[in-house]
Amino acid sequence: MQQYFLPVANFVREYMQTTEGPEMGHRRTASFRWRHTLRVLSMAREIGLAEEADMEVLEIAALLHDVAKLDPRSDEIHHAVLGSQIAEEFLRKLNIPEQPMQMIIEAIRFHSLDTNQDDLGLETLVLKDADRLDEVGALGIISVGIYAGRVGMDYRGSLRQGIKELSNLENLTFYTKTGKSIFRQRLKLTQDFWQQVATELAGENLTSYTDL
Ligand SMILES: [Fe+2]
Ligand SMILES: [Fe+2]
Repeated sequence: MQQYFLPVANFVREYMQTTEGPEMGHRRTASFRWRHTLRVLSMAREIGLAEEADMEVLEIAALLHDVAKLDPRSDEIHHAVLGSQIAEEFLRKLNIPEQPMQMIIEAIRFHSLDTNQDDLGLETLVLKDADRLDEVGALGIISVGIYAGRVGMDYRGSLRQGIKELSNLENLTFYTKTGKSIFRQRLKLTQDFWQQVATELAGENLTSYTDL
């Protein structure tokens, strides 16, 4: 299976470049999506090793998971479903054995759809966790800052946005023990960060100089 890694990586990178549209925002570029893919791959390796997943299946699924994200057809078909179809077509050309191929396809198809956990393989659950973790933590905080700057928010607006996104993060589901543990650490970092912002902004609430 190791021999499939580079051909798959090259395929995904090229697919993203050819489907990139004009001016779709920083998260909609081939560069952003490819870098996200590499981060998810790295996180999937960390979780997968701890959870004793099939690493070759997992790595190929991680590389392919967002292949369809920029494809214009993803306006009508969910990118995870479309991606699983694109992946199957490509993997068949590479002659990957049937059983690992089905595991890869399942992981791509369900990486961002909420389904019954009992039906899904370990590699799918690891990929789901790795993908979601990319929204949580220091990069999640920076991404609030990037958004806030783009729409012209001040510190208070950024704090409000940060708190709003924090409550979304608190509701995310993680599936593996390792994924849950990394999530808790990153959530704590995010909570502490916005708490510190609130503390620093509290100085704006004048109590004794109300004539200012
Ligand atoms: Fe995705
Ligand atoms: Fe993703």
